[in-house]
Amino acid sequence: MPMESSIESLLREDLADLKPYQSARRIGGKGKVFINANESPFTNVDLGDMNFETINRYPEQQPERLIEAYASYAGVNLENVVCTRGADEAIELLIRTFCNVGKDSISYFAPSYGMYQISATTCGISSIQVPFNDDYTLPSDWSNTEKSKLTFICNPNNPTGTIITPVDIKAVLNRTPFGLVVVDEAYIDFSIENTVTDLIKEFPNLVVLRTLSKAFALAGLRCGFLIASPQVTQQVLKVLAPYPVSVPVEQIATQALSSEGIALMQQQRQLIAQNKQRLLDALKGIATKVLPSASNFVYAEFDDADAIWRELVNQEIIARRYVVEKLKNGIRFTIGSTTENCTLINLFNNMKQLKDEQ
Ligand SMILES: Cc1ncc(COP(=O)(O)O)c(C=O)c1O
Repeated sequence: MPMESSIESLLREDLADLKPYQSARRIGGKGKVFINANESPFTNVDLGDMNFETINRYPEQQPERLIEAYASYAGVNLENVVCTRGADEAIELLIRTFCNVGKDSISYFAPSYGMYQISATTCGISSIQVPFNDDYTLPSDWSNTEKSKLTFICNPNNPTGTIITPVDIKAVLNRTPFGLVVVDEAYIDFSIENTVTDLIKEFPNLVVLRTLSKAFALAGLRCGFLIASPQVTQQVLKVLAPYPVSVPVEQIATQALSSEGIALMQQQRQLIAQNKQRLLDALKGIATKVLPSASNFVYAEFDDADAIWRELVNQEIIARRYVVEKLKNGIRFTIGSTTENCTLINLFNNMKQLKDEQ
C-alpha cells in the first residue's frame, strides 16, 4: 500500500499548486452576521408539502416537472434547459464537454468569480484572464479570447455587482465566431431586465447559467440551470451524471418555481433592494468608492480597508475581502436580513460620527 507521502506523488502534476476555491463556508470565521456568501437571508421551504414516496427509485436525469417549471420561469423551451447541481456544476460540465486537455483554453473577464479558473485547472485546461475596463465595462480589445473554446461573462459580475448591457454581450457574440460565450446569470433575478436568454434563438453558441442559490434563497439545495440551444444541451447531457437531481431537490425546487414561490421571491427581492439602498446611503462618507450594484451585494472601497475590516470582525460581522491587487481596498457586503443590515449601518454611522468628532 503506498505511504501517505507517496500518495502526494501520485497527484496530477498540474494540480500540485492548486489552491481550492476560498468559499465563504471554507474560510469560516466566528461571527453573528454572515454577509459573505451572497446568500438570501430568507428560509422559504415548506417541507409539509413534500412527498418522498418515490425515494426508493432513481430519479429521472432531468425531472420533467422541474424542467417545465424553470423553462416557463425563464421564458425558454424545454429543450433549452439542463438542471445541474448548482451553477458550479454547469461551469465544470461545459469545460468537460467542450475543452480538449492540452489544447483548448477558457477565457473570462476579470476580476470575477473564482470558479471559472479553478474548474478549468482541475480539468487540465488553461485559462486566460481579460481585465475589465476600470469601470468594469468590457474592454474594446479582447481578441486574445477569440481562440478560447469558452468565454465566461459573469453578469451581474461577482464580486463587483456591476452589469454588462445585453447590447455589449450581443457585440461579444457577434465577434465570437469560434467557441461558446457563457453568460453566468447567477444574480440576474435581481436585475432581470438584463438577461440575455432571448438571444439563445439567434446565437446557438450562447450559454446562460442560472441558479436557485441567490434570489430563490436555496443555496443549500444545490440546484442550478444551464440554458442554451439544443445543439449545446444535447452534448452536455451526455457528460452529466445519470442522476444529478435528487427527489428532494426536485420537489423543493419545483415548489420554489410555482407561481406562489416566484411571487415570494419577487417580494423578498424588493425588500433586499430597499435594504441595499439603505446600505448604499450609509456607505456615503465612509467608502471612497461604491460600485453600482445590480445584485444582492454591494462592493465598496475604503482608504483603510484593514481598519474597516477590523471593526467588522470586532462586531462579529463576516463580510468578504479579496487578495487580488485590483480589489485589495475593497469589501463585499451581501444584503442580509433587515436586522443584519441595521447592525452594519449602525456600525458605519458610529464610525462616521467618531470621524466627525475628531
Ligand atoms: C457568479 C457565480 N456563479 C455561480 C455561483 C455558484 O452558484 P451555485 O450555488 O448555483 O453553484 C456563484 C456562487 O456564489 C456565483 O457567485
